[in-house]
Amino acid sequence: FTANMKLLLFFGLVAFALADVARFDGNKVFRLKPSLDAHVTLIKDLAKSIQVDFWSPDSEDLVTIDINVDIHVPARYLDMVYTILEQSGIEYEIFIEDVQSAINRQANSGASPRAHSYTKYNTWSEIESWISSIASSNPSLISKQVIGQTYEGRSMHLLKLGKSSGSAKPAVFIDCGIHAREWISPAFCQWYVKEALEKYGSDSEMTNLLNTMDVYVLPVFNVDGYVYSHTTDRMWRKTRSRLSGTSCRGTDPNRNFDAGWCTIGASSNPCSETFCGKTPESEIEAKNVADFIRSNKSTIKAYITVHSYSQLLLFPYSYSYGLAADHSELMSVAKGASSALTSLYGTRYTYGPGASTIYPAAGGSDDWAYDLGVKYSYTFELRDTGYYGFLLPESQIKPTCEETMLAVNYITSYVLKNL
Ligand code: ARG
Ligand code: ZN
Repeated sequence: FTANMKLLLFFGLVAFALADVARFDGNKVFRLKPSLDAHVTLIKDLAKSIQVDFWSPDSEDLVTIDINVDIHVPARYLDMVYTILEQSGIEYEIFIEDVQSAINRQANSGASPRAHSYTKYNTWSEIESWISSIASSNPSLISKQVIGQTYEGRSMHLLKLGKSSGSAKPAVFIDCGIHAREWISPAFCQWYVKEALEKYGSDSEMTNLLNTMDVYVLPVFNVDGYVYSHTTDRMWRKTRSRLSGTSCRGTDPNRNFDAGWCTIGASSNPCSETFCGKTPESEIEAKNVADFIRSNKSTIKAYITVHSYSQLLLFPYSYSYGLAADHSELMSVAKGASSALTSLYGTRYTYGPGASTIYPAAGGSDDWAYDLGVKYSYTFELRDTGYYGFLLPESQIKPTCEETMLAVNYITSYVLKNL
């Protein structure tokens, strides 16, 4: 050992000790099926007394009768939760026996220094270098820009796909990674860019699309949260912003848009997973996206936002049960897109307006974009239906992205035909 090596080893150990990555050994994910009001009350009380991580719906405030409730329970509360479940008679199943081993199993093993790949969950630094290289690979078809910085000072990179033309083209805006732990979502945005570049020139649908329209792709919306979900807490959902008066960090970016803001299905408690933030667009990430869409409002014809999980295709409204003015058209496009998706591997999707299809939840980007005038506004909730939930194995990235491409292509082709 040279002195230098000793020094390196020392700093390595210090870094390891400081890393403090959350572990989930012995934790379980339950699916509860509340069938009585008493069950709903009990689940809400449970959430108040112990630390329960809601996987679906996104928080205890959204629990109602006759919906499936997926909760991630820390090992130390298991005895208590079993007792409560058995006594109350709530129907339940165990979906994930051990969350830590599901996390460990999520990655395809092997592959030493893991470089960027379309079939793995890339880190932010891998995605950032991929953005640079893909943008320079084909300058006539793709360009990049930064739409602002995140709370922690990272760049929000936006890719623009489309054959350059003299005049402004109508456009589609797609974002991924609003919620940090939904890793399949950024994987889809990367896949989309790859497919678009590959198919241009050979596939007539993609060629047509990129000749006539521009497609903006924001590969990761909530970059700080995404980084945190890789380095520290795999289950992180929100942004990473701080607020005075509380030690809880982060706002739910999909409750932070100015669409019925914080009226329903969102929380004003900064510690909640569905915290709506201090004010609409208090989150710089939401403001950057909203500013970009506002400034390009005359060209953006469709807004597509990608989440996971549940296999849903949603459209406005979520802040109200009222039907959107374009309800029947949005419904028929959703129907076509879902059946295109199903045609590949038989994956079944449910589609409809957010409020009645899942639950009312205000402050979402889809409702905001729609009310701004972007008629074709859709939210995808990708695979699966809860078996792996947020911990979808990397082996499912390819089939998930392939089938989702069919649905997105259906929507963009429809928009193109109806310009
Ligand atoms: N699970 C997503 C969320 O809670 C659904 C979004 C649907 N749209 C909405 N505006 N709530 O953020
Ligand atoms: Zn989400």
